[in-house]
Amino acid sequence: MRKPVIAGNWKMYKTIGEAVAFVEKLKPSVERAEHCEVVVGPPFTALRAVADAARGSKIAVAAQDLHWNKQGAHTGNVSPSMLLDAGCTHVIIGHSERRHDHGETDHQVNLKLKAALAAGLVPIVCVGETLEEREAGATDRVLERQFLGGFAGLTPSEFSRIIIAYEPVWAIGTGRTATPEMAAASHAVLRKLASKEFGEGNAAALRILYGGSVKAENIGKLMAQEEIDGALVGGASLDADSFLAIVNYPRN
Ligand code: 13P
Repeated sequence: MRKPVIAGNWKMYKTIGEAVAFVEKLKPSVERAEHCEVVVGPPFTALRAVADAARGSKIAVAAQDLHWNKQGAHTGNVSPSMLLDAGCTHVIIGHSERRHDHGETDHQVNLKLKAALAAGLVPIVCVGETLEEREAGATDRVLERQFLGGFAGLTPSEFSRIIIAYEPVWAIGTGRTATPEMAAASHAVLRKLASKEFGEGNAAALRILYGGSVKAENIGKLMAQEEIDGALVGGASLDADSFLAIVNYPRN
C-alpha cells in the first residue's frame, strides 16, 4: 500500500510573511490527515520561516532545487546541507521549468539526486514530455531517457527513497490537465522502468505523483487511478483553502 503524497510547488511566489501565514492556516486542518503526506515547497528565502512554522505539524518542507556540491564558488546556488540547515526534508529536482529555463540536463538531475540522497533528503524527481514530443508519439521514449539518465548508477536501496512526479510540460500552468487515463499510462511506463532497473518490490512501492493543472475539481478522478499516488500542485497550491481541498481529495 503506497501512502499518497500531496505536495505544493510554490515556484517563485510568496514572501516570507505570506508563506508563514499559509502554514499557520493549513496546520490545524491537516493535523488529522492520516491518508496522505503533505509537503509544501516554498522559495529558498522562505524555507527557514516555513520550517519553523511547520515544526511539530504534519507539513513537510521541500526546496525547489539544490546544487550537487557540498560548497564552493557557485553563485546563486544552494547546497544540500544548507537545505537541511534551513529545515527541509524534501527537495524537488529536475522540474521542467529548471530544465527549460536553466538548461538542466538529465546528467545534472542525476548529480543533484545523488547529492540529495547522500544528504538524507527525500528527492521528488520530475519527468515529463513536451507537447511536441507527445504529438510526435515520443512520450514513452522521453520518459525512458529521463528515467535512465536521471536515475543512473543508483542502488535499489537509494532508489527506494525517491518520489517521482510525472509532469507533462503541456499540462503545467495551462489548465489543460492530462486525463486520468493518460497520466496513469505514463505512470505505468515509469513503474515498468523502475521494475526493470531496480526490482519489482521497489517498483511496487514507488510513489509516482501527477503534476499539471491539478485542482480541487480534478484531483478526485486523478486519485481514483490505481497508478496515481498523489500530486505535485503548482498554481492551486498557493491558496491554503484550495490546497486543503486537494489534500482532502474525495476518497471512499
Ligand atoms: P500547475 O499546477 O500550476 O499546472 O503546476 C504544476 C507544476 O509545475 C508543479 O510542479
